[in-house]
Amino acid sequence: MRILINGLILFFILILTYLTSVFSKELIEEFPVPPPPFSEGIYPCSNCHASMDLNPKKRVLKDEHTNIQLHHAETLRWCLDCHYSKNRDKLRLYNGELIDFGRSYLLCGECHGNVFRDWKAGIHGKRQGYFIGGKRTYLLCVHCHDAHSPKFKGIKPEPPPLPPKVKRDVR
Ligand code: HEC
Ligand code: HEC
Ligand code: HEC
Ligand code: HEC
Repeated sequence: MRILINGLILFFILILTYLTSVFSKELIEEFPVPPPPFSEGIYPCSNCHASMDLNPKKRVLKDEHTNIQLHHAETLRWCLDCHYSKNRDKLRLYNGELIDFGRSYLLCGECHGNVFRDWKAGIHGKRQGYFIGGKRTYLLCVHCHDAHSPKFKGIKPEPPPLPPKVKRDVR
């Protein structure tokens, strides 16, 4: 009897280890993406930043990056919540983990979990390639959304169609 119970326990442990290995494989699944859409010459950021002193103060930037306007929960945060202060070539997750720009979806996914889930499944965003076999590539969130001002501007509606200019004799 005892041997049977021990055997059963061993069996379940084996199944458990198998399942966790399958799930963790899913968790570290990578998403192939095209290169991040940087402006020309801006990367590597460390070209300038490696030799700069850090100024962590929230302020209006005057000397560089003047084209960047933060409209993304800007009252709650500052650049260095996403950009790692000590190495600008990396992004920083909430738990302090550093990631490359090619994986910025992990950063976005921390707060936009539902959209991130849809993105992985190919419902949100854009996925190209094969369904079976072969690789499928994903567009990064930042290929479509500006990370600093991600909301799409409303599109101005077209004017309503004008009535045809028919000259009718109403008199
Ligand atoms: C929500 C997180 C977030 C915040 C906050 C943020 N950034 Fe970014 N930033 C990103 C991501 C993600 C990219 C990468 C875009 C890409 O892959 O091309 C980026 C790209 C950049 C770039 C490269 C832009 C280019 O032209 O290619 C610069 C410079 C930059 N950020 C500076 C800043 C500054 C300065 C601030 C604060 C005023 C700031 N960021 C705030 C996430 C953030
Ligand atoms: C040509 C040099 C140069 C490059 C390249 C550059 N930066 Fe900067 N960056 C600056 C300067 C100068 C400032 C300070 C501007 C100010 O204080 O007005 C700055 C400020 C910032 C800030 C604001 C916080 C701070 O430390 O002052 C962030 C965030 C930032 N840069 C991110 C980036 C990222 C991310 C990249 C690469 C994608 C990048 N920068 C590339 C020169 C550069
Ligand atoms: C720390 C949390 C946080 C992170 C990280 C974050 N966001 Fe957001 N995002 C917000 C909040 C809060 C709002 C709503 C407030 C606002 O729009 O200013 C928002 C708004 C948005 C919107 C506009 C939603 C609408 O209603 O139209 C988009 C799109 C978006 N984020 C995309 C992104 C992308 C892309 C990234 C990664 C580069 C990202 N977010 C990273 C918190 C976050
Ligand atoms: C192929 C382009 C594309 C990609 C890639 C993309 N989005 Fe979007 N996203 C859109 C469009 C288009 C909308 C709809 C805007 C509207 O309705 O005003 C949208 C809407 C949103 C919204 C606001 C509406 C909502 O459903 O909450 C958020 C937040 C958002 N996206 C975040 C993300 C994040 C996070 C990623 C990456 C994981 C991402 N997006 C990838 C194009 C894209």
